[in-house]
Order: sequence, then C-alpha cells, then structure tokens
Amino acid sequence: MKTLLLLLSLSIFLFASKNNIAPVDNVLYQKECGSCHFAYQPALLPKRSWEKTMETLQDHFKTDASLDEKDTQTLLEYLTKNAPTNLRSLSTSQTPLRISDTPYFKKEHRKIPTKFISQKELGSISNCVACHRTADKGIYSERAINIPNYGGWDD
Ligand code: HEC
Ligand code: HEC
Repeated sequence: MKTLLLLLSLSIFLFASKNNIAPVDNVLYQKECGSCHFAYQPALLPKRSWEKTMETLQDHFKTDASLDEKDTQTLLEYLTKNAPTNLRSLSTSQTPLRISDTPYFKKEHRKIPTKFISQKELGSISNCVACHRTADKGIYSERAINIPNYGGWDD
C-alpha cells in the first residue's frame, strides 16, 4: 500500500512538472541578463545559440549588452552547461538567437491574436512574464497564463 501511494504521488509530481523548465539559479546571470528583459532560462535555446549570443553582445538586438571578458566567460559557461545540445523542433543547422523564432515557440503561440501582443503592457512576445506569471519559476503551464487586459487562456 505504501509503495502504491508513493508511486501515485510520484506520477502526479511528474505529470504536474512535465512542462517545467529549470529556473535561473545564477546571480550574475539574473543581474546582467535580467536587467533589460526577463532572464530567459538556458534550457530555452540550444548551446550553439547561447554561444552566438555571447559572441555578439556588442550588437545585441540593436543594443550594446557587452560585458567584460571574465563575466562573459562565466555566463557562457553557465548557459552552455544548462542548455541542451539541440531542441526537438530545431534542425542542427539552425542557430536562432531568439526563443521566439523557434518552431516550437511559434507553434505554441500561433493562436494568440496580434492585438494582445501589440498592447503596450507587453511590448513584444519576448516579454514572457507579462503572460506567464510564473515564468521566473520555470512554470509555463496553461493554468499560470494571464494575458494583460484579457486574462486566462483556455485552449
Ligand atoms: C541593454 C539591454 C539588454 C541587456 C543587458 C541584455 N539584453 Fe537580451 N535583449 C535586449 C533587447 C532590446 C532584446 C529584444 C527584445 C524584443 O524584441 O522585445 C533582447 C532579446 C534577447 C533574446 C531573445 C528573446 C526572444 O525573442 O526570444 C535573448 C535570448 C536575449 N536577449 C538574451 C540575453 C542575454 C543572455 C543577456 C546577458 C548576457 C542579455 N540578453 C542582456 C536587450 C538586452
Ligand atoms: C501574449 C502572452 C504570451 C507571451 C508574451 C508569451 N507566451 Fe508563452 N504561451 C502563451 C499562450 C496563450 C500559450 C498557449 C497555452 C496553451 O494553449 O497550452 C503559451 C505557451 C507556451 C509554452 C508551452 C506551455 C505548455 O504547457 O505547453 C511555453 C514553453 C511558453 N509559452 C514559453 C514562453 C516563453 C519562453 C516566452 C517568452 C520568450 C513566452 N512564452 C511568451 C502566452 C504567451
């Protein structure tokens, strides 16, 4: 009986956490890469994307996000250590700099009307936390979505 209960709670736990992504646990990353926008979790892009991002920080989406050599190296290590070699939806020849350019992301967000995304409360689709209120915890489940001026999402 005890084993059964244990198995049951384990499967509930696995089910509930199936869409969770490991939260950011690096103070330097949170500080440097979370100052202009949400600190995107390393697992959202493959290693090669982060390598490219860290090599091009001087010209980062029309801004200069460059850091000194030491911090750049530290963050590159943190990112590549925690990122997958590839994403299921990507071919290995693709190296997107944007999470929002990946096929998986596009598929998940294709039903959202443009008028929700273009409102000033959001700025852009890259503003994950505006809708995914628990994004900082790595929880992107439907239940935790709350789109500004619209509310919850029921697919
Ligand atoms: C000086 C401000 C600034 C800093 C600092 C900064 N970024 Fe950005 N980042 C931007 C802007 C602007 C965009 C484009 C956002 C948009 O399109 O809404 C962006 C976009 C991104 C995106 C793409 C988001 C998407 O659409 O999927 C990633 C990934 C990213 N940044 C990673 C980083 C990392 C890693 C660091 C730290 C090394 C960092 N950023 C630091 C300004 C910054
Ligand atoms: C305009 C609000 C909005 C923004 C901004 C947004 N999302 Fe979403 N996201 C949604 C909606 C709505 C869904 C679809 C939920 C569904 O139908 O299951 C979704 C789905 C997802 C899913 C799949 C969740 C699951 O359980 O299947 C992930 C992962 C995700 N978003 C990550 C992100 C990331 C990372 C960002 C920022 C780069 C982001 N989202 C920006 C609204 C948003």
